Amino acid sequence: MSGAASPFASIQMAPPDPILGLTEAYNADPNPDKVNLGVGVYLDGAGKVPVLHCVREAARRLLESEETKTYLPIDGAPAYNRQVQQLLLGEGSPVIAEGRAITVQCLGGTGALRVGADLLVRHLGAPGVWISTPSWENHRGVFEAAGLKVQAYPYYDPAKRGLDFDAMVAGLKAIPAGDVVVLHACCHNPSGVDLSASQWATVVEVCGEQGLLPFLDFAYQGFAVGLDQDALAVRSFAASGQPFIVANSFSKNFSLYRERVGGLTVITAGADEAKRTLSQVKRIIRTNYSNPASHGAQIVATVLADAQLRPMWTKEVGLMRERIAWMRKLFARSLAEAGIEKDYSFVTRQKGMFSFLGLPVEAVHRLRSEFGVYAVDSSRVCVAAMNEQNIQAICHAIAAVSAEA
Ligand code: LMR
Repeated sequence: MSGAASPFASIQMAPPDPILGLTEAYNADPNPDKVNLGVGVYLDGAGKVPVLHCVREAARRLLESEETKTYLPIDGAPAYNRQVQQLLLGEGSPVIAEGRAITVQCLGGTGALRVGADLLVRHLGAPGVWISTPSWENHRGVFEAAGLKVQAYPYYDPAKRGLDFDAMVAGLKAIPAGDVVVLHACCHNPSGVDLSASQWATVVEVCGEQGLLPFLDFAYQGFAVGLDQDALAVRSFAASGQPFIVANSFSKNFSLYRERVGGLTVITAGADEAKRTLSQVKRIIRTNYSNPASHGAQIVATVLADAQLRPMWTKEVGLMRERIAWMRKLFARSLAEAGIEKDYSFVTRQKGMFSFLGLPVEAVHRLRSEFGVYAVDSSRVCVAAMNEQNIQAICHAIAAVSAEA
């Protein structure tokens, strides 16, 4: 080693990621009864992250038919991007017919958020970004890393264990015109509390009146009510005629987490604007990771375009959704049976993978250290990781730490 000090010598240790850092700690824990309710990953009734049957079949077909490993275009596989647009906006969407939407394949929903964030910085004058209170742990980080100022609007009321819609609307009305409002299209992460159809209608109207740019995070299509029903927010904004952005993910509804498959869709005011926007989004991608990986997107495109595989997928998404709904019921019931007096029936009315226990952080840490039950510090738990074998132990652990909380 030379005499010069290392250029890395002054680097400080970063804190672990609040969600993925928990998985690292969970993996290192020797407790045989440990359970990871931290990360948002769907596990089947046997505690496995499934490879969907439609995915296996599409992968088999691709292996046989794929003739090249050359680069994908900068914006991804064209067939994939077309399918994504239709899945989000619906068959026969006027927005698609008019050429007003552009879609680029991205590295999961997070990658799509970041490409979108870079678009805001480089071409929309770096507007302020507003996220819900609370929001996904990584939202603030992604937008701030791109150089944007992030603020928050009211959403969840812990006392009500539900949405504070009046406060949300008042908050949106106070956001300056031109700023960006990040909305969870369905299965709000972390609360599981969604807007009703009439509340969405109000939010669409307020965004239009205020001149806000809605940026929808759509990571759970099919996990709330159904594939088309869950697209209500996206399609309502489309019908309103206002420009907006969607980041979508196939991590959850295709169980393709590690393949990093998502998309960024920008709905503009006209076809010419859309073309210019696409040209700049491509530059953002080219100067970042050049072009995306192929495998996961080809699987999604194959399944969505195939008359046999698409219904298979719809059914498999439905089964995941129904299992989560059943776990929500069992969770609420088992908490009561474990002796918890607090009414947890609200869990059964929420949507998607998550719910808040409403516990202080000390109790969440005890869950981890004494019982091997891993939850996010906010007391967010992933209901989709529960099953009939682990739920009693989880509920007894929660009862034990709740008693003194
Ligand atoms: C989560 O919220 O747990 C998931 O969306 C996974 C992630 O990347 O944080």
